Amino acid sequence: MTVVHAVIGGSGFYSLGDDFRIDRCEKPETPFGRTSAEIQLGRWGEHDIVFLPRHGEIHQIPPHAINYRANLWALQAVGVTHIFAINAVGGITPDLPPQTLALPDQIIDYTSGRAHTFFDGNRQDIEHIDFTLPYSKTLRDSIIAAGKSAGIDLVGTGTYGCTNGPRLETAAEIRKMGKDGCNMVGMTGMPEAALARELSIEYATIALVVNWCAGIEASVLDMEQIKKVLADRIDSVKSLILATLERVTR
Ligand code: HPA
Repeated sequence: MTVVHAVIGGSGFYSLGDDFRIDRCEKPETPFGRTSAEIQLGRWGEHDIVFLPRHGEIHQIPPHAINYRANLWALQAVGVTHIFAINAVGGITPDLPPQTLALPDQIIDYTSGRAHTFFDGNRQDIEHIDFTLPYSKTLRDSIIAAGKSAGIDLVGTGTYGCTNGPRLETAAEIRKMGKDGCNMVGMTGMPEAALARELSIEYATIALVVNWCAGIEASVLDMEQIKKVLADRIDSVKSLILATLERVTR
């Protein structure tokens, strides 16, 4: 099988930048409706790559309204086998201050009301996928090894708690999530990771911590500060993906 890598961009990550040469764009109709944006296919440095911004080109789609099924189905339809999912998160535990890059290895799903499966009873086959380890071990290992050799610091484990949003959490909700074992909190990790598994796509999240979660620090959450961290750190995220691509395609 031909390996095709994709990047799903999250908040603050709406393009792969000037080094990305787009060869063609596709906006496939899917059985689940429209994707968040056109799917861009092209070359990034030496690598074939596919890119899709999950919030749309200008962040017009909130986390609960993203058509995750259309996005994943369409990525597979253009041949994608591996996905780097980029997710902005808040940090709960002391190892995850703002600016940190982290590779979660577990998920707790607190979302509701999202179309979260391809096996919804409307198709013939029902499958109960194994989701013990929600992220691809091979892709995670490659990213961690690439980070190490490229000198890009990252935290290699952690539990990602996915809330529904779009509001941020209360301090009590974060206290509870911390007790549940969450290290970081975001709004877009699910059902994306589970849908990727349903389609047998290798999927790993690169989380960028953009703030301390509610109540961890005395100050109120500041959107300008969050935007600044995104702007400051997005190049490191891109370098990490490129370093991984170098490693897995050489
Ligand atoms: N909570 C939920 N989602 C987020 C946060 C947060 O604090 N920061 C970035 N995405």
